[in-house]
Amino acid sequence: MNYKIAVIPGDGIGPEVTREAIKALDAVADKFGHKFEYEYLLAGGAAIDETGRCLPDETVEAAKKSDAVLLGAVGGPKWDNLPGEERPEKALLGLRKALGLFANLRPAIMFDELKGACPLKEEKVQGGLDIMVVRELTGGIYFGERGIKDTPDMGKAAYDVELYSEKEVERVAEIAFSMAMKRNKKVTSVDKANVLESSRLWRKTVAKVAEKYPEVTLENFYVDNAAMQLVYNPKQFDVIVTSNIFGDILSDEASMITGSIGMLPSASLAEGEFGMYEPVHGSAPDIAGTGKANPMAAVLSASMMLKYTFGLSEEADAIENAVKAVLEEGYRTPDIMTSGKRLITTSEAGTLIAERI
Ligand code: IPM
Ligand code: MN
Repeated sequence: MNYKIAVIPGDGIGPEVTREAIKALDAVADKFGHKFEYEYLLAGGAAIDETGRCLPDETVEAAKKSDAVLLGAVGGPKWDNLPGEERPEKALLGLRKALGLFANLRPAIMFDELKGACPLKEEKVQGGLDIMVVRELTGGIYFGERGIKDTPDMGKAAYDVELYSEKEVERVAEIAFSMAMKRNKKVTSVDKANVLESSRLWRKTVAKVAEKYPEVTLENFYVDNAAMQLVYNPKQFDVIVTSNIFGDILSDEASMITGSIGMLPSASLAEGEFGMYEPVHGSAPDIAGTGKANPMAAVLSASMMLKYTFGLSEEADAIENAVKAVLEEGYRTPDIMTSGKRLITTSEAGTLIAERI
């Protein structure tokens, strides 16, 4: 089969890790007889430098015409002083919205080989860890009305509105429950319904969706408790479904439990098969160009693309197994390095993975 992939390398370590993900995709193409066609697009700081805008229209148009998008990372200190609307991060938000990517899947899986890198006591993660965070991605406070106004006596005031409609909650909850059906049949919905009206509607709507999935156990946690439970007893979780901002925070927390954010991929899905795939880590400008970046999150994002958008499960497994093999053989990028292991660079990691596909 022939697939058209829009590639947005972005900034910082984005281009380096994306290059390694493409090595893996090319190895899959060779082995399984597929053809991946790459179209390179600009977004983020790279686009600001080149075109003056963080998300050029051509990027959105080309991304829409592709079968899937592979993204590196955007942002960096060079563009930190730009106003909110022009920051590189705005490109990411713009892409999510323009492409209708309402469901963000962030699997926090602990690789057996990396148990030592988990900051929790061993007994807390005995037998491994496999949590799927489903984060709502095109609504809530990230996209609500915002502004700045003057107050009579308290200086300036700024606001960002958290707003969720039933439809928005329903569709992301549907994704969470159908994922749970293929996993351990448990959904934990996270909100702040003891305080927020938007959370009360969230909770009610999730409960309605749950009625369609009698086999799945639904549990509701307030976000503060969820943050605590994640480090206290992470093994109780299967699928977590939550709002845009809570999901942003909890997915970083969950990722750290697995050892390194450098290992974690993500999928952002639209209605249908289309998706954008990117590592959860950011652009890490401090290590850009040094060969220290771990490309595994990007490589595993490519694997998620094969699985969720192209329906190529065997090919996706081939990438995952290759990553595991490289870890088993003792190769480590600096973020996951421990004594006695073999230190490798970004591109060495990518080559080793590709060779094992
Ligand atoms: C993420 C990032 C983004 C977000 C930023 C860069 C806008 O932190 O993908 O988690 O907050 O969604
Ligand atoms: Mn984040």
